Amino acid sequence: MSTPQQQTSVLFVCLGNICRSPLAHGIFQHLVNTNNLTDHYQIDSCGTASYHTGNPPDPRSIQTAALHNIDLTAQRARQFDPLTDIERFAWIIPMDAANHRDLIKLGTPKSRLRLMRSFDPTTTAPDIPDPYYGGDGGFEQVYQMLQHACQGLLDSIKDQA
Ligand code: 4NP
Repeated sequence: MSTPQQQTSVLFVCLGNICRSPLAHGIFQHLVNTNNLTDHYQIDSCGTASYHTGNPPDPRSIQTAALHNIDLTAQRARQFDPLTDIERFAWIIPMDAANHRDLIKLGTPKSRLRLMRSFDPTTTAPDIPDPYYGGDGGFEQVYQMLQHACQGLLDSIKDQA
């Protein structure tokens, strides 16, 4: 069993913490679990905005994750807290350039930030697009993007260990 000091801590960040970052959280947790690394990781997600604090993920994110045997129903949205999150998480992973900019404005050191999609070796597109205002199909596309990026993130962390 790893102590908190030995764990790798990863925080996924989007705007509302109901669509993209809960999916990223669920996919990455699933990947860590299937690699028998559960004890070695501390994983969470949050939003730069507070609109949805306390709410479960968007039903479309829950449904998309469920189609891939990932359960998001226990997650609840929370807002990024610079006072605690900057110290607590080694890896702070914004979904898009706007989230990245907002996290810097909130005092997050650039050295701690890496855009989610930068871990996907198959694309140079910088952002995980926000599916909130689109149709259900957008959520499956976002799932696929996050799946690639989560695998790349895990590989990257393992390489650095
Ligand atoms: P997320 O998507 O940042 O991926 O959770 C959004 C969710 C809610 C809103 C915007 C984006 N909103 O404006 O309420």
